[in-house]
Amino acid sequence: MKEQILIIEDDEAFRKTLTNLLKKEGYSVTGVSDGFQAIELAKKSLFELIIADVRLPKGMDGIEAVSIIKGIRPEIKVIVIIITGYTDENAPVRALRMGVDDYLYKPFKMEVFLHSVERNIKMYRLEEEKKEHLEMLEKMNEELNVAQHELIQSKKELEDYSKRLEQKVEERTKQLKETQSQLVQSAKMSTIGQLGSAVAHELNNPIGGILGYAQFILQKLSKPDVVPKDFKTCKQYIAYIEEEAKRCKSIVENLLSFSRKPLIALESVDIKQLIENTLSIIRHQLELQNIKLTTNYEPKLPSISGNVNQLQQVFTNIIINAQHAMPKGGKLNIRVSTKMKDGKKHLQISFKDTGCGIPKKNLEKVFEPFFTTKEDWQSIGLGLSITYQIIKELKGIITAQSKVGKETTFTITLPVSSS
Ligand SMILES: Nc1ncnc2c1ncn2[C@@H]1O[C@H](COP(=O)(O)OP(=O)(O)OP(=O)(O)O)[C@@H](O)[C@H]1O
Ligand SMILES: [Mg+2]
Repeated sequence: MKEQILIIEDDEAFRKTLTNLLKKEGYSVTGVSDGFQAIELAKKSLFELIIADVRLPKGMDGIEAVSIIKGIRPEIKVIVIIITGYTDENAPVRALRMGVDDYLYKPFKMEVFLHSVERNIKMYRLEEEKKEHLEMLEKMNEELNVAQHELIQSKKELEDYSKRLEQKVEERTKQLKETQSQLVQSAKMSTIGQLGSAVAHELNNPIGGILGYAQFILQKLSKPDVVPKDFKTCKQYIAYIEEEAKRCKSIVENLLSFSRKPLIALESVDIKQLIENTLSIIRHQLELQNIKLTTNYEPKLPSISGNVNQLQQVFTNIIINAQHAMPKGGKLNIRVSTKMKDGKKHLQISFKDTGCGIPKKNLEKVFEPFFTTKEDWQSIGLGLSITYQIIKELKGIITAQSKVGKETTFTITLPVSSS
């Protein structure tokens, strides 16, 4: 829509000429002959452009009238073109003070007039557009500020949330670790329960020997005719007693060290010695069950980094499993050798039994916690899962191979300590 123009001109013919000219250009034009009429009109309607003659009747000139009109809505821009004759000497300065956009001296050519109107309206429109853009920019900026504020808030909430989550994970991990260590301990206690009769047997033998030798000595020394040869024999028997007593001590010590809750400290471990210690508790039980035990140790085996207590638990688990797999007897072979893997030296420890074997569908499950095929109350199915965990912590691996009804081999590979 084109702009509203107000013309304040007392010369009626001239006013009409200007009005018609502007109407032809599509503007809506209102003409009045004095300042008072102009002010009354401006109170009711908005004019974008006011063209005012300086000299007007009724004691109010054009500049004064426009000043009053401008004061009605000071926040709205009004374009002002003043027209005057050369005789109004003060008029230009007053018009400038009031804020005029153009100043035309009568008489002027109509083209000059039209050009002034169009140029000023164009500028006015540009100004308006600029204002609109500015307002839009300000609005956008405000929206951006709000969005940014929301973003900062969300980020903070997210950070809080992630912090809380981290704390929860930490707590849970701690709880899990505690549970796991309790599980390991209870599985170990269950293994000790399963070892009970073996230990009794193991201890029975040397104790039987000790008793026998003690009785021999008593007999010898109770004779009235004790000769020096008897003392020599007794000394020999006492040496046997000492040896058997030492065997008892080592069995009890092994069992004690096994049942103690381990401090998981890494140490240099002699695997051959550790397997022999483990066997000292269990060998007799295997013999009683008709299980022929053989061991093959590669000479000069290097030591590995591990924890004696944990590794003893690993070996005991595997050997007891083998024993359970051969209720009617069989063979168990333990072999320890070195092997290069990924350019590094490793120890390979294999336990091969000729027991019932593991069906293929179970082979991948045996290392899962609580997987068991045993129905007795002592078996909870934790032995191999704990074994797996311990070996994994030592950066080793454990695998199982089996032929159902024929044999099973568990192989442990552990890195050799670098020192
Ligand atoms: N040498 C083996 N021969 C045949 N099956 C075996 C052998 N070793 C393990 N298994 C199978 O793997 C299962 C899981 O063994 P794992 O030692 O984890 O538990 P478990 O012996 O059943 O119970 P737990 O060890 O807690 O007393 C056993 O129940 C058994 O079916
Ligand atoms: Mg087991």
